[in-house]
Parts: sequence; structure tokens; C-alpha cells
Amino acid sequence: MDDFTPDVLISEEEIAIRVEALGKAITEEFEGEELTVICVLKGAFMFCSDLLKQINLPVKLEFIALSSYGDGTNSSGNVKLEMDLSGSIAGKNVLVVEDIVDTGLTIKTLTEMLNVRNPKTLKLASLLFKPTRNEHPAKIDYLGFEIEDKFVIGYGLDYAGRYRELPYVGVLNAGN
Ligand code: IMP
Repeated sequence: MDDFTPDVLISEEEIAIRVEALGKAITEEFEGEELTVICVLKGAFMFCSDLLKQINLPVKLEFIALSSYGDGTNSSGNVKLEMDLSGSIAGKNVLVVEDIVDTGLTIKTLTEMLNVRNPKTLKLASLLFKPTRNEHPAKIDYLGFEIEDKFVIGYGLDYAGRYRELPYVGVLNAGN
């Protein structure tokens, strides 16, 4: 398992261009307002960090940790809250930042969890979306890239806890 060589699916340059555009669009939408950004750990840490640098607004950063995958490539079908927010989101403009929407179960569960806390607005940014696997439709307000049904790693995303540090989104290639 340690000998996979990742193939690049989305390069560092492509990601940077897209993230800049998303940051600009978010800045325009919330102009004159404050934004609470919720980074969904662990997978969204790199995307969220780069996205924040492209958002020109007063921002407060929160973290939440959820898990639905074990150590493999298939969801357990069960979303567990591992770590909650540190503050209230009542009356705030909230932007959830996710790494990937796959079946949609994680974001559906999270959206329900956050909506009962009465934010002023609740929007979603996701780096990736796999439409072929989607079972729980969610509105992704800011989407990086739509991808095929492949298990991807890098730029925050892991396989069994590894590969998060890669600066690009890759696909594991067992052939190498
Ligand atoms: P969902 O609940 O099926 O939408 O899955 C969402 C979560 O599963 C994401 O936040 C990721 O942590 C993980 N995940 C889904 N697909 C992939 C993938 O291709 N690579 C790495 N993690 C993934």
C-alpha cells in the first residue's frame, strides 16, 4: 500500500487559478459583511487555507471534524461528529468549506446540524464534486471541480491517513 505513485488529476496551477476565482466570487457576494468560515477537518485544511488568502473580507475561522470513512475508500454510511465548533454561528454568515462531496451524506448531515443553530446564511464551498456517486443532493454554492468517480488523494484528501500533503489532486495508480 505504501508503493502507490499518484497520477496528477488536477495540477497545483489549475487549483490556484480556480481557488483565486472562488475567493473573488465569495468576496463579491459578502461585500461589506463579516463571514464565518467553517473548515471541515481534516480533508479541507489545505483548500480552506488557500481559499482564505483569496477572500478579502473580515473573516472568523472555525473548525469542525466529521468522519464517515474508515481507513478504506468507501463511506461507512455513518457520519460522526469528532470535534465541534468553538463558538456560536447564530445570526452569522457562514461558509462551510469541504474537500469533496461524494455521496453527499456528510454535507447533508452537517447542513442539518448547522441549520438548527440559526445562522443568518449558510453557504457551501467544495473543492471537488463526484456527481456519479451523489445520493443526497446538496447545493454547492462554490465548486472547484467536478470529477469522475475515482478515489482521489492529495491537497488535503487522504487514503488511509496518507497523501494529504501533496500540492495537487491525484489518483492512486497501483500500476507504478
Ligand atoms: P460523502 O459523505 O460520501 O459525500 O463523503 C464525503 C467525505 O468522504 C469527504 O469529506 C472525504 O473526507 C471523503 N471522501 C469521499 N471521496 C473521497 C476521495 O475520492 N478521496 C478521499 N476522500 C474522499
